[in-house]
Amino acid sequence: QGEYDFIVVSNRLPVDRQTSPDGTEYWQASPGGLVTALEPMMQASGGAWVGWPGRPDLEFDPFDHDGMHLVPVSLTAVEVERYYEGFCNDTIWPLYHDVIAPPSYHRVWWDAYVRVNRRFADAAARLAAKDATVWVHDYQLQLVPMMLRESRPDLTIGFFNHIPFPPYGIFSQLPWRRRIIEGLLGADVIGFQRVGDAANFSLAVRRLLGHSVRRAGAIDIEEDGKPFRRVISRAFPISIDSRAFEEVAKRPDVQARARQIREDLGNPKKILLGVDRLDYTKGIQHRLKALGELFAAGELDPEEVSFVQVASPSRERVETYRQLRDEIELTVGRINGDFGSIRHQPVSYLHHGYPRDEMVALYLAADVMLVTALRDGMNLVAKEYPAVRFDEDGVLVLSEFTGSADELRTALRVNPHDIDGLKAAILEATRMPQADRRRRMRAMRRRVLENDVARWSSSFLDVLREARGNSAARD
Ligand code: G6P
Repeated sequence: QGEYDFIVVSNRLPVDRQTSPDGTEYWQASPGGLVTALEPMMQASGGAWVGWPGRPDLEFDPFDHDGMHLVPVSLTAVEVERYYEGFCNDTIWPLYHDVIAPPSYHRVWWDAYVRVNRRFADAAARLAAKDATVWVHDYQLQLVPMMLRESRPDLTIGFFNHIPFPPYGIFSQLPWRRRIIEGLLGADVIGFQRVGDAANFSLAVRRLLGHSVRRAGAIDIEEDGKPFRRVISRAFPISIDSRAFEEVAKRPDVQARARQIREDLGNPKKILLGVDRLDYTKGIQHRLKALGELFAAGELDPEEVSFVQVASPSRERVETYRQLRDEIELTVGRINGDFGSIRHQPVSYLHHGYPRDEMVALYLAADVMLVTALRDGMNLVAKEYPAVRFDEDGVLVLSEFTGSADELRTALRVNPHDIDGLKAAILEATRMPQADRRRRMRAMRRRVLENDVARWSSSFLDVLREARGNSAARD
Protein backbone atom coordinates (compact mmCIF):
# COMPACT_ATOMS: atom_id res chain seq x y z
CA GLN A 1 0.00 0.00 0.00
CA GLY A 2 1.30 3.45 -0.93
CA GLU A 3 0.58 7.09 -0.32
CA TYR A 4 -1.19 8.37 -3.43
CA ASP A 5 -4.91 9.15 -3.37
CA PHE A 6 -5.35 9.57 -7.12
CA ILE A 7 -3.58 7.47 -9.73
CA VAL A 8 -3.79 7.57 -13.49
CA VAL A 9 -2.70 4.50 -15.44
CA SER A 10 -2.18 4.74 -19.20
CA ASN A 11 0.03 2.93 -21.68
CA ARG A 12 2.14 6.02 -22.28
CA LEU A 13 3.42 8.44 -19.67
CA PRO A 14 2.48 12.09 -20.30
CA VAL A 15 6.17 12.82 -21.03
CA ASP A 16 8.54 11.65 -23.74
CA ARG A 17 12.23 10.90 -23.37
CA GLN A 18 14.08 13.28 -25.69
CA THR A 19 17.70 13.41 -26.75
CA SER A 20 19.23 16.85 -27.31
CA PRO A 21 21.86 17.44 -30.04
CA ASP A 22 24.71 17.13 -27.51
CA GLY A 23 23.43 13.69 -26.51
CA THR A 24 21.95 14.56 -23.13
CA GLU A 25 18.56 13.12 -22.39
CA TYR A 26 15.59 14.79 -20.73
CA TRP A 27 11.84 14.45 -20.23
CA GLN A 28 9.50 16.61 -22.25
CA ALA A 29 5.79 16.93 -21.58
CA SER A 30 3.76 15.47 -24.44
CA PRO A 31 1.08 18.00 -25.29
CA GLY A 32 -1.91 15.66 -24.92
CA GLY A 33 -5.30 16.89 -23.73
CA LEU A 34 -5.44 14.19 -21.10
CA VAL A 35 -2.51 15.68 -19.20
CA THR A 36 -4.00 19.16 -19.36
CA ALA A 37 -7.27 17.84 -17.97
CA LEU A 38 -5.75 15.82 -15.17
CA GLU A 39 -2.76 17.91 -14.19
CA PRO A 40 -4.62 20.31 -11.84
CA MET A 41 -6.27 17.38 -10.12
CA MET A 42 -2.99 15.48 -9.88
CA GLN A 43 -1.23 18.49 -8.41
CA ALA A 44 -4.01 19.18 -5.91
CA SER A 45 -4.54 15.64 -4.73
CA GLY A 46 -1.01 14.31 -4.64
CA GLY A 47 -1.50 12.20 -7.74
CA ALA A 48 0.73 9.70 -9.48
CA TRP A 49 0.80 8.59 -13.13
CA VAL A 50 1.84 5.09 -14.19
CA GLY A 51 2.90 4.56 -17.81
CA TRP A 52 5.46 3.34 -20.33
CA PRO A 53 8.21 5.80 -21.39
CA GLY A 54 7.74 4.77 -25.04
CA ARG A 55 11.00 2.95 -25.77
CA PRO A 56 12.06 -0.67 -25.13
CA ASP A 57 14.46 -1.90 -22.48
CA LEU A 58 14.72 1.31 -20.47
CA GLU A 59 14.49 1.25 -16.71
CA PHE A 60 13.79 4.54 -14.95
CA ASP A 61 13.16 5.31 -11.32
CA PRO A 62 9.98 7.21 -10.47
CA PHE A 63 10.45 10.98 -10.65
CA ASP A 64 8.53 14.22 -10.21
CA HIS A 65 7.60 16.41 -13.17
CA ASP A 66 5.37 19.51 -13.13
CA GLY A 67 4.01 18.62 -9.71
CA MET A 68 3.11 15.07 -10.72
CA HIS A 69 4.72 11.86 -9.56
CA LEU A 70 5.55 9.79 -12.64
CA VAL A 71 6.15 6.06 -12.40
CA PRO A 72 7.69 4.47 -15.51
CA VAL A 73 6.79 0.86 -16.33
CA SER A 74 9.46 -0.75 -18.43
CA LEU A 75 8.84 -3.08 -21.39
CA THR A 76 11.39 -5.38 -23.00
CA ALA A 77 11.88 -5.32 -26.77
CA VAL A 78 9.96 -8.61 -27.01
CA GLU A 79 7.11 -7.15 -24.97
CA VAL A 80 6.98 -4.08 -27.20
CA GLU A 81 6.68 -6.42 -30.15
CA ARG A 82 4.07 -8.77 -28.69
CA TYR A 83 2.08 -6.53 -26.37
CA TYR A 84 2.27 -3.04 -27.95
CA GLU A 85 2.79 -3.67 -31.67
CA GLY A 86 1.11 -7.08 -31.59
CA PHE A 87 -1.90 -7.43 -29.33
CA CYS A 88 -2.66 -3.72 -28.85
CA ASN A 89 -2.10 -2.46 -32.35
CA ASP A 90 -2.48 -5.50 -34.59
CA THR A 91 -5.29 -7.27 -32.73
CA ILE A 92 -7.40 -4.91 -30.62
CA TRP A 93 -6.92 -1.73 -32.69
CA PRO A 94 -8.19 -3.19 -36.01
CA LEU A 95 -10.85 -5.30 -34.25
CA TYR A 96 -12.28 -2.29 -32.42
CA HIS A 97 -12.19 -0.18 -35.59
CA ASP A 98 -14.66 -2.22 -37.63
CA VAL A 99 -11.96 -4.64 -38.88
CA ILE A 100 -10.91 -2.07 -41.51
CA ALA A 101 -7.65 -4.02 -41.47
CA PRO A 102 -7.76 -7.74 -40.57
CA PRO A 103 -6.86 -8.36 -36.90
CA SER A 104 -4.27 -11.04 -36.14
CA TYR A 105 -4.82 -13.46 -33.29
CA HIS A 106 -1.71 -14.93 -31.69
CA ARG A 107 -1.63 -16.68 -28.36
CA VAL A 108 1.87 -15.44 -27.51
CA TRP A 109 0.66 -11.86 -28.04
CA TRP A 110 -2.22 -12.47 -25.66
CA ASP A 111 0.16 -13.93 -23.06
CA ALA A 112 2.31 -10.80 -23.30
CA TYR A 113 -0.80 -8.59 -22.95
CA VAL A 114 -1.78 -10.38 -19.74
CA ARG A 115 1.75 -10.14 -18.36
CA VAL A 116 2.14 -6.44 -19.14
CA ASN A 117 -1.33 -5.58 -17.81
CA ARG A 118 -0.33 -7.34 -14.59
CA ARG A 119 2.78 -5.19 -14.34
CA PHE A 120 0.76 -1.97 -14.69
CA ALA A 121 -1.80 -3.20 -12.15
CA ASP A 122 0.90 -4.15 -9.65
CA ALA A 123 2.57 -0.74 -9.99
CA ALA A 124 -0.74 1.04 -9.34
CA ALA A 125 -1.57 -1.24 -6.41
CA ARG A 126 1.79 -0.48 -4.79
CA LEU A 127 1.31 3.28 -5.12
CA ALA A 128 -2.31 3.56 -4.02
CA ALA A 129 -3.21 4.76 -0.54
CA LYS A 130 -6.12 3.11 1.25
CA ASP A 131 -9.42 3.90 -0.51
CA ALA A 132 -7.61 5.73 -3.33
CA THR A 133 -9.12 6.36 -6.76
CA VAL A 134 -7.43 4.81 -9.79
CA TRP A 135 -8.34 5.87 -13.32
CA VAL A 136 -7.22 3.41 -16.02
CA HIS A 137 -7.11 4.49 -19.67
CA ASP A 138 -7.66 2.83 -23.01
CA TYR A 139 -7.55 -0.43 -24.88
CA GLN A 140 -3.99 -1.30 -23.97
CA LEU A 141 -5.00 -1.93 -20.35
CA GLN A 142 -8.40 -3.60 -20.34
CA LEU A 143 -7.43 -6.27 -17.81
CA VAL A 144 -6.06 -3.82 -15.25
CA PRO A 145 -9.42 -2.98 -13.57
CA MET A 146 -10.10 -6.59 -12.49
CA MET A 147 -6.48 -7.26 -11.58
CA LEU A 148 -6.55 -4.21 -9.34
CA ARG A 149 -9.88 -5.07 -7.77
CA GLU A 150 -8.62 -8.53 -6.86
CA SER A 151 -5.53 -7.24 -5.09
CA ARG A 152 -7.04 -4.02 -3.71
CA PRO A 153 -10.81 -4.22 -3.11
CA ASP A 154 -10.67 -0.93 -1.19
CA LEU A 155 -9.94 1.09 -4.36
CA THR A 156 -12.40 3.04 -6.48
CA ILE A 157 -11.61 2.12 -10.08
CA GLY A 158 -12.56 3.99 -13.25
CA PHE A 159 -11.83 2.93 -16.82
CA PHE A 160 -12.12 5.06 -19.94
CA ASN A 161 -11.96 3.58 -23.44
CA HIS A 162 -10.67 6.22 -25.87
CA ILE A 163 -11.40 4.17 -28.99
CA PRO A 164 -14.68 2.67 -30.23
CA PHE A 165 -16.13 -0.47 -28.68
CA PRO A 166 -17.22 -2.76 -31.53
CA PRO A 167 -20.60 -4.38 -32.21
CA TYR A 168 -20.92 -7.87 -30.75
CA GLY A 169 -20.74 -9.58 -34.15
CA ILE A 170 -17.21 -8.22 -34.52
CA PHE A 171 -16.10 -8.34 -30.89
CA SER A 172 -17.04 -12.01 -30.66
CA GLN A 173 -14.19 -12.91 -33.05
CA LEU A 174 -11.75 -12.35 -30.23
CA PRO A 175 -10.64 -15.67 -28.75
CA TRP A 176 -10.21 -13.97 -25.35
CA ARG A 177 -13.46 -11.99 -25.49
CA ARG A 178 -14.71 -13.20 -22.11
CA ARG A 179 -11.47 -12.35 -20.36
CA ILE A 180 -11.58 -8.81 -21.74
CA ILE A 181 -15.14 -8.24 -20.53
CA GLU A 182 -14.32 -9.66 -17.11
CA GLY A 183 -11.23 -7.47 -16.95
CA LEU A 184 -13.20 -4.31 -17.68
CA LEU A 185 -15.94 -5.21 -15.20
CA GLY A 186 -13.41 -4.82 -12.41
CA ALA A 187 -14.08 -1.07 -12.70
CA ASP A 188 -16.84 0.82 -10.86
CA VAL A 189 -17.41 3.08 -13.87
CA ILE A 190 -16.56 2.24 -17.50
CA GLY A 191 -16.61 5.24 -19.81
CA PHE A 192 -16.99 5.21 -23.59
CA GLN A 193 -16.90 7.94 -26.23
CA ARG A 194 -20.34 7.35 -27.78
CA VAL A 195 -23.68 6.07 -26.57
CA GLY A 196 -23.39 3.37 -29.25
CA ASP A 197 -20.08 2.13 -27.80
CA ALA A 198 -21.63 1.76 -24.34
CA ALA A 199 -24.57 -0.12 -25.90
CA ASN A 200 -22.18 -2.48 -27.74
CA PHE A 201 -20.40 -3.16 -24.47
CA SER A 202 -23.67 -3.85 -22.62
CA LEU A 203 -24.69 -6.38 -25.25
CA ALA A 204 -21.31 -8.13 -24.98
CA VAL A 205 -21.72 -8.29 -21.19
CA ARG A 206 -25.18 -9.79 -21.53
CA ARG A 207 -24.24 -12.30 -24.22
CA LEU A 208 -20.96 -13.46 -22.71
CA LEU A 209 -21.62 -13.32 -18.98
CA GLY A 210 -25.40 -13.19 -18.72
CA HIS A 211 -25.44 -10.20 -16.34
CA SER A 212 -28.51 -8.04 -16.53
CA VAL A 213 -27.95 -4.51 -17.76
CA ARG A 214 -30.40 -1.84 -16.69
CA ARG A 215 -31.49 1.12 -18.74
CA ALA A 216 -29.03 3.67 -17.39
CA GLY A 217 -26.08 1.36 -18.11
CA ALA A 218 -26.10 -0.13 -14.62
CA ILE A 219 -24.76 -3.69 -14.62
CA ASP A 220 -25.47 -5.70 -11.50
CA ILE A 221 -22.93 -8.40 -10.88
CA GLU A 222 -23.69 -11.16 -8.45
CA GLU A 223 -20.74 -12.86 -6.87
CA ASP A 224 -21.16 -15.96 -4.70
CA GLY A 225 -22.65 -15.13 -1.35
CA LYS A 226 -22.00 -11.38 -1.65
CA PRO A 227 -24.47 -8.58 -2.24
CA PHE A 228 -24.38 -7.58 -5.89
CA ARG A 229 -21.83 -5.09 -7.12
CA ARG A 230 -22.98 -2.39 -9.51
CA VAL A 231 -20.87 -1.26 -12.48
CA ILE A 232 -21.91 1.82 -14.43
CA SER A 233 -21.19 1.92 -18.16
CA ARG A 234 -21.89 5.22 -19.91
CA ALA A 235 -20.78 7.63 -22.63
CA PHE A 236 -18.51 10.54 -21.68
CA PRO A 237 -17.40 12.15 -24.97
CA ILE A 238 -13.85 13.43 -24.53
CA SER A 239 -12.78 16.90 -25.60
CA ILE A 240 -9.81 19.27 -25.81
CA ASP A 241 -8.48 22.21 -23.85
CA SER A 242 -10.46 24.52 -26.13
CA ARG A 243 -9.48 27.84 -24.52
CA ALA A 244 -5.80 26.99 -24.71
CA PHE A 245 -6.15 26.32 -28.46
CA GLU A 246 -8.09 29.53 -28.96
CA GLU A 247 -5.47 31.54 -27.09
CA VAL A 248 -2.69 30.22 -29.31
CA ALA A 249 -4.78 31.22 -32.35
CA LYS A 250 -5.14 34.78 -31.07
CA ARG A 251 -1.40 35.33 -30.89
CA PRO A 252 -0.10 37.71 -33.59
CA ASP A 253 2.93 35.53 -34.34
CA VAL A 254 0.68 32.52 -35.00
CA GLN A 255 -1.58 34.58 -37.28
CA ALA A 256 1.46 35.86 -39.14
CA ARG A 257 2.57 32.27 -39.57
CA ALA A 258 -0.86 31.36 -41.00
CA ARG A 259 -0.50 34.14 -43.60
CA GLN A 260 3.00 32.94 -44.38
CA ILE A 261 1.72 29.40 -44.96
CA ARG A 262 -0.84 30.70 -47.47
CA GLU A 263 1.88 32.64 -49.25
CA ASP A 264 4.29 29.71 -49.25
CA LEU A 265 1.59 27.63 -50.91
CA GLY A 266 1.40 30.27 -53.69
CA ASN A 267 -1.74 32.08 -52.48
CA PRO A 268 -4.20 29.45 -53.69
CA LYS A 269 -7.90 30.31 -53.81
CA LYS A 270 -8.68 27.52 -51.36
CA ILE A 271 -6.55 25.62 -48.88
CA LEU A 272 -7.84 22.20 -47.89
CA LEU A 273 -6.28 20.48 -44.89
CA GLY A 274 -6.07 16.98 -43.44
CA VAL A 275 -4.31 16.28 -40.13
CA ASP A 276 -4.02 12.69 -38.96
CA ARG A 277 -1.76 10.08 -37.50
CA LEU A 278 -0.82 7.93 -40.47
CA ASP A 279 -3.43 5.27 -39.73
CA TYR A 280 -5.78 3.19 -41.91
CA THR A 281 -8.75 4.24 -39.76
CA LYS A 282 -8.40 7.87 -40.88
CA GLY A 283 -9.67 7.50 -44.45
CA ILE A 284 -6.72 9.37 -45.98
CA GLN A 285 -6.90 7.31 -49.20
CA HIS A 286 -10.62 7.99 -49.59
CA ARG A 287 -9.94 11.71 -49.31
CA LEU A 288 -7.17 11.51 -51.91
CA LYS A 289 -9.34 9.49 -54.25
CA ALA A 290 -12.13 12.06 -54.08
CA LEU A 291 -9.71 14.92 -54.71
CA GLY A 292 -7.98 13.14 -57.58
CA GLU A 293 -11.35 12.56 -59.27
CA LEU A 294 -12.36 16.19 -58.77
CA PHE A 295 -9.13 17.34 -60.41
CA ALA A 296 -9.48 14.81 -63.23
CA ALA A 297 -13.05 15.89 -63.99
CA GLY A 298 -12.09 19.57 -63.96
CA GLU A 299 -14.53 20.23 -61.11
CA LEU A 300 -11.70 21.54 -58.96
CA ASP A 301 -8.85 23.44 -60.56
CA PRO A 302 -5.56 21.97 -59.31
CA GLU A 303 -3.89 25.34 -59.97
CA GLU A 304 -6.26 27.09 -57.58
CA VAL A 305 -6.36 24.57 -54.77
CA SER A 306 -3.78 23.38 -52.26
CA PHE A 307 -4.45 20.26 -50.26
CA VAL A 308 -2.11 19.97 -47.28
CA GLN A 309 -2.01 16.54 -45.68
CA VAL A 310 -0.12 16.21 -42.40
CA ALA A 311 0.30 12.49 -41.69
CA SER A 312 2.27 12.07 -38.50
CA PRO A 313 4.35 8.88 -38.27
CA SER A 314 2.73 6.20 -36.14
CA ARG A 315 3.36 2.53 -35.21
CA GLU A 316 5.86 2.25 -38.03
CA ARG A 317 6.99 -1.26 -37.19
CA VAL A 318 3.51 -2.71 -37.74
CA GLU A 319 3.20 -4.10 -41.28
CA THR A 320 -0.28 -2.69 -42.05
CA TYR A 321 1.01 0.80 -41.24
CA ARG A 322 4.03 0.35 -43.53
CA GLN A 323 1.81 -0.77 -46.38
CA LEU A 324 -0.53 2.14 -45.83
CA ARG A 325 2.35 4.60 -45.98
CA ASP A 326 3.47 3.16 -49.30
CA GLU A 327 -0.07 3.36 -50.71
CA ILE A 328 -0.59 6.96 -49.62
CA GLU A 329 2.77 8.07 -50.96
CA LEU A 330 2.07 6.38 -54.28
CA THR A 331 -1.29 8.12 -54.57
CA VAL A 332 0.09 11.54 -53.63
CA GLY A 333 2.87 11.10 -56.20
CA ARG A 334 0.32 10.19 -58.88
CA ILE A 335 -1.91 13.17 -58.17
CA ASN A 336 0.99 15.60 -58.16
CA GLY A 337 2.44 13.96 -61.26
CA ASP A 338 -0.85 14.13 -63.13
CA PHE A 339 -2.09 17.54 -62.02
CA GLY A 340 0.96 19.47 -60.85
CA SER A 341 3.10 21.95 -62.72
CA ILE A 342 6.58 23.38 -62.22
CA ARG A 343 4.93 26.22 -60.33
CA HIS A 344 2.43 24.32 -58.20
CA GLN A 345 1.87 20.92 -56.64
CA PRO A 346 -1.76 20.44 -55.62
CA VAL A 347 -0.93 18.09 -52.70
CA SER A 348 1.60 18.97 -49.99
CA TYR A 349 2.20 15.78 -48.08
CA LEU A 350 4.06 16.03 -44.78
CA HIS A 351 5.12 12.91 -42.94
CA HIS A 352 6.00 14.65 -39.67
CA GLY A 353 4.47 15.63 -36.41
CA TYR A 354 4.38 19.37 -35.66
CA PRO A 355 4.25 21.39 -32.45
CA ARG A 356 0.93 22.83 -31.41
CA ASP A 357 1.65 26.42 -32.60
CA GLU A 358 2.33 25.24 -36.13
CA MET A 359 -0.82 23.10 -36.15
CA VAL A 360 -2.90 26.06 -35.05
CA ALA A 361 -1.39 28.22 -37.81
CA LEU A 362 -2.31 25.51 -40.34
CA TYR A 363 -5.89 25.38 -39.01
CA LEU A 364 -6.13 29.16 -39.35
CA ALA A 365 -4.85 29.00 -42.90
CA ALA A 366 -7.26 26.22 -43.95
CA ASP A 367 -10.49 27.16 -45.70
CA VAL A 368 -11.69 23.58 -45.52
CA MET A 369 -10.78 20.94 -42.93
CA LEU A 370 -11.24 17.34 -44.05
CA VAL A 371 -11.87 14.75 -41.32
CA THR A 372 -12.92 11.64 -43.23
CA ALA A 373 -12.13 8.82 -40.79
CA LEU A 374 -13.68 5.42 -41.51
CA ARG A 375 -13.99 4.90 -37.78
CA ASP A 376 -12.70 7.05 -34.93
CA GLY A 377 -13.50 6.99 -31.21
CA MET A 378 -13.76 10.78 -31.08
CA ASN A 379 -11.30 12.63 -33.41
CA LEU A 380 -9.94 15.65 -31.63
CA VAL A 381 -8.75 17.40 -34.80
CA ALA A 382 -12.44 17.94 -35.56
CA LYS A 383 -12.72 19.83 -32.25
CA GLU A 384 -9.42 21.70 -32.51
CA TYR A 385 -10.40 23.27 -35.83
CA PRO A 386 -13.52 25.10 -34.56
CA ALA A 387 -11.77 25.91 -31.26
CA VAL A 388 -9.14 27.99 -33.05
CA ARG A 389 -11.47 29.63 -35.61
CA PHE A 390 -12.38 32.69 -33.55
CA ASP A 391 -12.86 34.47 -36.90
CA GLU A 392 -15.94 32.20 -37.32
CA ASP A 393 -14.78 31.14 -40.75
CA GLY A 394 -13.75 27.82 -42.28
CA VAL A 395 -15.73 24.70 -43.18
CA LEU A 396 -15.43 21.34 -41.44
CA VAL A 397 -16.16 18.24 -43.54
CA LEU A 398 -16.73 15.51 -40.97
CA SER A 399 -17.21 11.76 -41.23
CA GLU A 400 -20.30 10.40 -39.53
CA PHE A 401 -18.14 7.53 -38.24
CA THR A 402 -16.36 9.73 -35.69
CA GLY A 403 -17.48 10.40 -32.13
CA SER A 404 -17.22 14.12 -32.87
CA ALA A 405 -20.06 13.85 -35.39
CA ASP A 406 -22.49 13.28 -32.48
CA GLU A 407 -21.75 16.79 -31.21
CA LEU A 408 -20.71 18.86 -34.22
CA ARG A 409 -24.08 18.81 -35.90
CA THR A 410 -23.44 21.74 -38.23
CA ALA A 411 -20.35 20.26 -39.86
CA LEU A 412 -20.78 19.01 -43.44
CA ARG A 413 -21.38 15.34 -42.68
CA VAL A 414 -20.03 12.68 -45.00
CA ASN A 415 -19.91 8.94 -45.41
CA PRO A 416 -16.28 8.58 -46.57
CA HIS A 417 -17.02 5.26 -48.30
CA ASP A 418 -19.34 7.13 -50.65
CA ILE A 419 -16.76 8.78 -52.91
CA ASP A 420 -19.40 10.71 -54.90
CA GLY A 421 -20.90 12.02 -51.65
CA LEU A 422 -17.44 12.98 -50.44
CA LYS A 423 -16.72 14.81 -53.72
CA ALA A 424 -20.01 16.68 -53.45
CA ALA A 425 -19.23 17.71 -49.86
CA ILE A 426 -15.74 18.94 -50.79
CA LEU A 427 -17.20 21.02 -53.63
CA GLU A 428 -19.94 22.37 -51.38
CA ALA A 429 -17.32 23.29 -48.76
CA THR A 430 -15.20 25.20 -51.27
CA ARG A 431 -18.24 27.10 -52.56
CA MET A 432 -20.14 27.74 -49.34
CA PRO A 433 -21.21 31.38 -48.89
CA GLN A 434 -19.73 33.23 -45.96
CA ALA A 435 -22.98 33.62 -44.02
CA ASP A 436 -23.52 29.87 -44.06
CA ARG A 437 -19.92 29.21 -43.03
CA ARG A 438 -20.29 31.58 -40.12
CA ARG A 439 -23.58 30.13 -38.89
CA ARG A 440 -22.19 26.60 -38.89
CA MET A 441 -18.86 27.54 -37.34
CA ARG A 442 -20.51 29.53 -34.56
CA ALA A 443 -22.61 26.58 -33.48
CA MET A 444 -19.59 24.26 -33.47
CA ARG A 445 -17.51 26.73 -31.49
CA ARG A 446 -20.20 27.13 -28.88
CA ARG A 447 -20.26 23.41 -28.35
CA VAL A 448 -16.48 22.90 -28.23
CA LEU A 449 -15.77 25.85 -25.97
CA GLU A 450 -18.45 24.74 -23.53
CA ASN A 451 -17.67 21.02 -23.48
CA ASP A 452 -13.96 21.07 -22.92
CA VAL A 453 -11.68 18.42 -21.51
CA ALA A 454 -11.94 19.76 -17.97
CA ARG A 455 -15.68 19.26 -18.09
CA TRP A 456 -15.16 15.75 -19.49
CA SER A 457 -12.85 14.67 -16.69
CA SER A 458 -14.95 16.22 -13.95
CA SER A 459 -18.13 14.59 -15.23
CA PHE A 460 -16.41 11.19 -15.30
CA LEU A 461 -14.95 11.65 -11.84
CA ASP A 462 -18.30 12.85 -10.45
CA VAL A 463 -19.99 9.67 -11.61
CA LEU A 464 -17.10 7.63 -10.23
CA ARG A 465 -17.40 9.31 -6.83
CA GLU A 466 -21.14 8.72 -6.80
CA ALA A 467 -20.73 5.07 -7.79
CA ARG A 468 -18.35 4.65 -4.91
CA GLY A 469 -20.81 6.30 -2.55
CA ASN A 470 -23.47 3.81 -3.60
CA SER A 471 -21.34 0.78 -2.98
CA ALA A 472 -20.01 2.17 0.31
CA ALA A 473 -23.63 2.58 1.44
CA ARG A 474 -24.19 -1.12 0.71
CA ASP A 475 -21.09 -2.40 2.53
C1 G6P B 1 -4.98 6.76 -29.97
C2 G6P B 1 -5.13 5.95 -28.71
C3 G6P B 1 -4.11 6.35 -27.65
C4 G6P B 1 -2.72 6.35 -28.27
C5 G6P B 1 -2.67 7.25 -29.50
C6 G6P B 1 -1.28 7.25 -30.18
O1 G6P B 1 -5.41 8.06 -29.75
O2 G6P B 1 -6.45 6.07 -28.17
O3 G6P B 1 -4.14 5.46 -26.56
O4 G6P B 1 -1.76 6.78 -27.32
O5 G6P B 1 -3.64 6.78 -30.42
O6 G6P B 1 -0.88 5.96 -30.49
P1 G6P B 1 0.44 5.32 -29.87
O7 G6P B 1 0.39 3.88 -30.27
O8 G6P B 1 1.58 6.05 -30.49
O9 G6P B 1 0.42 5.50 -28.38
